[in-house]
Amino acid sequence: MKKTYNRNVQISKGNFIAFEGIDGSGKSTQVQILTEKLKQEGIYCYTTMEPTDSPIGSLIHQIMTGRIKADNKVIAALFAADRLDHLLNDINGIVSKINDGITVISDRYYFSSYAYHSVDMPMDWVIKANEQSSVILKPTVNIFIDVNPDTAIERIAKNRFHQELFEKKSRLVKVREKYLEAFEKLKESERVIIVDGNKSKQEIADDIWDKIKPYLAD
Ligand code: ADP
Ligand code: TYD
Repeated sequence: MKKTYNRNVQISKGNFIAFEGIDGSGKSTQVQILTEKLKQEGIYCYTTMEPTDSPIGSLIHQIMTGRIKADNKVIAALFAADRLDHLLNDINGIVSKINDGITVISDRYYFSSYAYHSVDMPMDWVIKANEQSSVILKPTVNIFIDVNPDTAIERIAKNRFHQELFEKKSRLVKVREKYLEAFEKLKESERVIIVDGNKSKQEIADDIWDKIKPYLAD
């Protein structure tokens, strides 16, 4: 779709690439590598993440680190609200960037909610709670970095002083299963690319590039 600024100039919409995976799967590493690669290819991109650093995101961070207590349904609803703000806020909302032709790469989007929150509540409820986001903006492609939970835990333990609420192994095993369930459930409406996250950083980056290239064309 084209956005018309005046009679002569039309700007193509930017792509939206969402990275997904369990904690420690290597998302932020791959977001960084892909951002560099796209810049080398002359594609202007904006990198972002969820939860965001907005007031709603900061409330989420305080809940996740145990400083504030909240019911699981409230947490899931806050993530949905943070996501809508991430899309729509006036200062750096994703939607206006996409409309201006910028490619946006996000470390997590709504499949994170589908996977993490459906461990404790029905997935259909979580999908419904995020319906507005999915109507407003579906990713050009969702990239799932599929890593063995044992490997993910080892990586996290090596690099962090304390483990947050969500970073327990049994939970990550369940979250991974929920991701796969969500991809299967939404396979008709969502484009999902699964890459083997147990390989080296560069091998994964090469796999991602090979798989997303066809979708980045205008
Ligand atoms: P996430 O954003 O998914 O939590 P990170 O990208 O922060 O994951 O990676 C977690 C840790 O694992 C980091 O220290 C990173 O350097 C390391 N790491 C990432 N990808 C790989 C890989 N393919 N092989 C080995 N270590 C990795
Ligand atoms: P964070 O340490 O910021 O990111 P990561 O582990 O991806 O590097 O933690 C984000 C946590 O929030 C992670 O455990 C997944 C969880 N989460 C949800 O539970 N629901 C969501 O909708 C999102 C976006 C994240």
